[in-house]
Amino acid sequence: SGAMLWGGRFTGGLDPLMVKYNESIYFDRVLYKQDVAGSIAFARSNAKAGIITQEEFEKLEQGLREVEKEWEAGTFTIVPGVDEDIFTANERRLGEIIGKNIAGKLHTGRSRNEQVVCDMRMWLRDELRQIEQHLINFLNVIAARAEQEIDYVMPGYTHLQRAQPIRWSHWMLSYGFAFASDLERLREVIKRVNRNPLGCGALAGNPFGIDRDMITKELGFDGLIWNSMAGVSDRDFVSETLQWGAMFMQHISRWAEDLIIYSTAEFGFVRLSDAYSTGSSLMPQKKNPDSLELLRGKSGRAFGHMAGLMMTQKGLPSTYNKDLQESIEPMLDHVKTVSDSIQIANGVLATLAVDGAKMKAALDPFMLATDVADYLVRKGVPFRETHHISGRCVAKSEETGIPMNELSFEQLKAIDSRFEEDIAEAFVYETSVERRSAKGGTSKSSVLEQIQVIKAAIGGQ
Ligand code: ARG
Repeated sequence: SGAMLWGGRFTGGLDPLMVKYNESIYFDRVLYKQDVAGSIAFARSNAKAGIITQEEFEKLEQGLREVEKEWEAGTFTIVPGVDEDIFTANERRLGEIIGKNIAGKLHTGRSRNEQVVCDMRMWLRDELRQIEQHLINFLNVIAARAEQEIDYVMPGYTHLQRAQPIRWSHWMLSYGFAFASDLERLREVIKRVNRNPLGCGALAGNPFGIDRDMITKELGFDGLIWNSMAGVSDRDFVSETLQWGAMFMQHISRWAEDLIIYSTAEFGFVRLSDAYSTGSSLMPQKKNPDSLELLRGKSGRAFGHMAGLMMTQKGLPSTYNKDLQESIEPMLDHVKTVSDSIQIANGVLATLAVDGAKMKAALDPFMLATDVADYLVRKGVPFRETHHISGRCVAKSEETGIPMNELSFEQLKAIDSRFEEDIAEAFVYETSVERRSAKGGTSKSSVLEQIQVIKAAIGGQ
């Protein structure tokens, strides 16, 4: 351990398994770029504070750029057992490039406790901004399809039983609004992720009077973490991201489940493109919706990481504890899972074939039973009574085997004398859909209005 950066007071070697157990370099190396940027900003503020010279700063900056180039070129060689994390690895290599005398000044007044969160926050901020863009792309596809396919009418379900006719676009937008709320929440999360912890020290603050506002600006943070102890302890920015993503994945999972059902031969409302389906190694006829099943399945993994990180943090005493290193892998995996999932969902939807005839064929006259009741309501009959009358029409249809919309006028009149010839209109699906014209309903005008609301949400309104 004499070779480790913190090895000064240690005499015995680490247990070899403990070395591996402790090291994070094999996953936190993805932070190399943020680490170099953070180190340069930190060194610059140390130069401004007068604790290192301008010349030393320039050497440090130039050396750090070399280190960054090696990572980029794939030539950075990790020294096993020595480079315990990206922070120690970069500093070790910097010393080899510019000499230990100057490299040894980089960490003046700095702790890995602030360094790790500074790098994580920068990395996460950039990733979340990309995710925001993917989500916007997905919402744009939803809005565009909803506009183009507004004339398809399909069964709407409750309890997975046919309930009332709806527009296919209305179904798409029902998830669209969940994703639009996800977008809104994501923008909130990014604000809190993007705050600067650098200058917090190990826990008590920086002793050399560095200008934290200058660092904030250089690293593109929106503001400061205002308490140094909070700065090094806080992983809420990761938890909040995972909570955000868990809810997003829950939406995606339900969306995928609907499409899995709609794509079965039994429903046949939609057909997945080859790009997002796979075959069976045994059954030649199979075309399986693996993309959708993975979207559904990966939601479990997202929830798991979220719950795991919450557990890791509960009960930790104040400020930095090594437990916090366990916040990095869930963050990396979660970001990848969510980012990939949005893009896959987008691809599935953008290439999905819709079968309007199948949707229409699945409509059932019983789905108009509410409209029959509503018809009598418009004639002044109380709804509780009309519900009952319509129920008798349903029973008549079941009993005679005649579809409800084909019962004769005489048969209907026998059930209730207030039925008139215009009852025929209650049996038109299109009319049923168009009647739901209050804001948020499934009529064409309501759906078109919803598309405008979604578009405004994409624009941040
Ligand atoms: N690899 C560590 C982590 O990710 C860096 C911080 C180490 N700090 C410490 N006091 N040991 O949390």
